[in-house]
Formats: sequence, C-alpha cells, structure tokens
Amino acid sequence: KSHRAEPYKIKMVEPIKKLTRSERERLIAAAGYNAFQLKAEEVYIDLLTDSGTGAMSDRQWAGLMMGDESYSGSRNFYNLEAAVQQYYGYRFVVPTHQGRGAEHLISRMLIRPGMYVPGNMYFASTRLHQELAGGIFKDVIVDEAHDPYSTHPFKGDVDLLKLEKLILETGAGNIAYLSLATTVNMAGGQPISLGNLQQVRQLTLQHGVRIIHDMARVAENAYMIQQHEPGHQHKTVAAIVKEICALTDGAVMSGKKDALVNIGGFLALNDQGLYEEAKNLVIVYEGMHTYGGMAGRDMEAMAIGIAESVEEEHIAYRVHQVHYLGDQLKDAGIPVVNPIGTHGVYLNAAAFLPHIPQVQFPAQALTVALYQEGGIRSVERGILSAGRNKETGDHHYPKLELVRLAIPRRVYTLAHLDMVAEAIMATFKNKDNIRGLEMVFEPKYMRFFQARFQQV
Ligand code: F0G
Repeated sequence: KSHRAEPYKIKMVEPIKKLTRSERERLIAAAGYNAFQLKAEEVYIDLLTDSGTGAMSDRQWAGLMMGDESYSGSRNFYNLEAAVQQYYGYRFVVPTHQGRGAEHLISRMLIRPGMYVPGNMYFASTRLHQELAGGIFKDVIVDEAHDPYSTHPFKGDVDLLKLEKLILETGAGNIAYLSLATTVNMAGGQPISLGNLQQVRQLTLQHGVRIIHDMARVAENAYMIQQHEPGHQHKTVAAIVKEICALTDGAVMSGKKDALVNIGGFLALNDQGLYEEAKNLVIVYEGMHTYGGMAGRDMEAMAIGIAESVEEEHIAYRVHQVHYLGDQLKDAGIPVVNPIGTHGVYLNAAAFLPHIPQVQFPAQALTVALYQEGGIRSVERGILSAGRNKETGDHHYPKLELVRLAIPRRVYTLAHLDMVAEAIMATFKNKDNIRGLEMVFEPKYMRFFQARFQQV
C-alpha cells in the first residue's frame, strides 16, 4: 500500500474508547436502531459526517483568541469577507450560522411558488428549503451519477440536454436558478469537471439562468479536477477553486466542510441588489449582517480555515485518506460506489444486503450492523434520507441505497481507518444474518435524524 504521511503533527489528543459488542447491541436497540440517537461517547470511530467534525489548526485556535465580539462591525467579519473575496472571488458576503442558513435566505429570495430549481442531484436541507419556498426540484445530473457501478470520473457533471430541455419546456423565467454542488454528496462525493461547468455556464448565460453554487466541498472538487481532468495538472488547487467560483453567480457555503470549522457558513453574491436584499433578510433569521449567527471568533477561524483548505499538502492528504479506506474495501470485494469520492466512502447497501427489500431500509440496517460489529458510526443515504413525495405521500425510491462513511478532516489516522476496514470486512462475512428494519416513529422533517425502528 502506498502511504502519504499526515502533513501535520498532533499537539492535543482526545481519548476514545471501544465498548464491548453486547454493550453496543443494547445501546443501538435503545437508540431505536438509529445511530444519530447514540451518544458520541458510545461510538468508537465516528464517521457519521465530515461536517463540523474536523480538527482546527493551531492557527485557527489562535484566531479564536482574536475574536471581536462587537455586535456590529466585528473585525473578524471583515477578515472573513476578505478571505471569501481573495480565495473564492465573490464580491459580497453575508455570514450565516451554517450552510442551511444560507440556503434558507437564497431560497426565500429567488424562488416563487411553482418555480423549478434544477440541480446536480440534491442535498436534503437544500431541497427542503427550496420546497418550503414553493420550488420544485428537478434532477439534471448525468445518469451515471445514479449508477454505483459506473466509473465515470466526474459523476457530478450536469446533463446539458436535461437542463436545456427543462429550460425550453418551462421557460427560463420559471427557473429560479441552477443549484450546482461541488462535489455531489448524495452521489458519493463525486466531482463536477471544469469542462462541464464551462458548458453549463454558457447554456445558462444564453437563457439568463443564474447559477447558485453549493460550495461546501469546492476545494476537494478542485483537487479532483487537478488530478483527473486533462489540461489542469499544472494549476494549483487554489487557482482551480477560483475558476469554479468565477463560473457561478453566488454561493451557499457550509464552512463545516472544506473551510475546516466546527460551525459557520455564509451566502456569497456578486449582484449588489441581491446582496442588499440578503443583508436585510439575514437580520430576520440569523442576526446582523456582520455576524449572521456566528461569534466573531468563529468568523476568524473560518477565514483562516478557508486559506488552509486550498493548501496542496492538506487537500492531497485529505483525499488520500478517503481513498486509502476505499481502496482497501474494493480490494476485499466489498461493494462500494465507484469511483471513490472525496469526503467519504459509500457502501452500496443494495448489493451488500440483497436479501433486504428497499422498504425495509437496507442501508439503515447496515449502519446498525457496522455499529454492532466495530463501534463504527456511519449514515444512511438511501430511502430513509430521500423522504416522501409531497404529492403522493409515498416514499421516494432512490436508485442509490448507500451507507456513507464520512471521514472528518485531520481527525483520524490511517491506523483508525484500518480498524474501520476490518469491521466492514467482518460485517460482510456475516451479512446474511443482518435483518431489515421497520420504521415505528417518523418525524415530519428530515426524518433520518430522529426516526426510530425495530428489527423485522
Ligand atoms: N450542502 C451540502 C452538499 C451538504 O453536504 C450540507 C451538509 C449542506 C449543504 C448543509 O450545510 O449542515 O452547514 O447546514 N451536509 C452534512 C453532511 C450535514 O453530513 O453531509 P449545513
């Protein structure tokens, strides 16, 4: 195996503990077979999410000490604004408490009831805010993104024909904007190519359709372009990030991902009129436009994290960790989504547990089995996450029934990832004994967080 060593050394540690198998079996049953309901202390290796779970650098911690907690006009806001302008190139910045705060604002501002919002697949909170504003989401990602076996290197690409057909059928005036994610979380952390984005820009300009960029993992996407898209090898990740942003009209950012903070986000815009509107609206829902729900110190940490996120050594090691785990699983014949993405490894639960029908939540059942086996916490990305069709009330039946093993940034070592691989291989050996689930409690919004199950 080829190793890349960590481009940092460790100066603070947090002990973790592995419980016994019988303790874990008792705890996950008490949690209603939903790992979101476990206490973090009951988990050995926590791969639930890469969101807000990263380790900050010594510089970011130093930045916390420089917090200016003035209600208005904090110096940290201006540092954040400068970082967004320098590294992403957007002109205006409105801080929000996290990504979904920005999604809420932009959805309210640009979506009128009945409008369409095309996207390269969806993320749960993004689509929910679009729907709450009266919008209708339309998936315009390439078909390959829905096929876990396809090895297309840029499964985040937009299908230009699907997008153009939608524009022509509904009229550009009925399209709120194109919601464009770098990388696509629900497809397995898959990047969009720069070539595709350039064509998308051309098409949307022709029709006067805005692109709003969900840039949570833009540095990881840029790294994949540098590594795998011909013609970009000589560029820095920082330069590619800026190129991507320049092809869009504004962005929603969850700073909890690439920007390496535990909390925070922003809405970025180039249009002054929209900025004025957002600046006013943010006061209603998040806070004054120079803090938007964030502490001054947290804005400082995010400004520093943005700069660190595009350092070549950092981003190369970050993606290496994910591939280190993914390649081990592939070599062992475990069904995973191909190619391996950038923020996590996605198990193909439909292929892992073919004896469990989709209505019995195979991916959720697999998250339970992985916790029982190795104390590993992962997350369902299948029928449970997909939610229900607003009109029919029935489940959405997504083609992908996945379990995500998200790797937090700068937190675990390669040895930890070896432990994860071993637990998955052991689970795979015993897969025939894994039972399906029946949902016994279903909350109204984003049910995967709080739903409860029993085994069938
Ligand atoms: N967009 C994408 C692509 C995301 O992955 C997330 C969050 C958001 C928007 C919302 O940002 O959490 O800061 O409000 N994803 C997390 C995850 C929760 O686990 O994938 P947020």
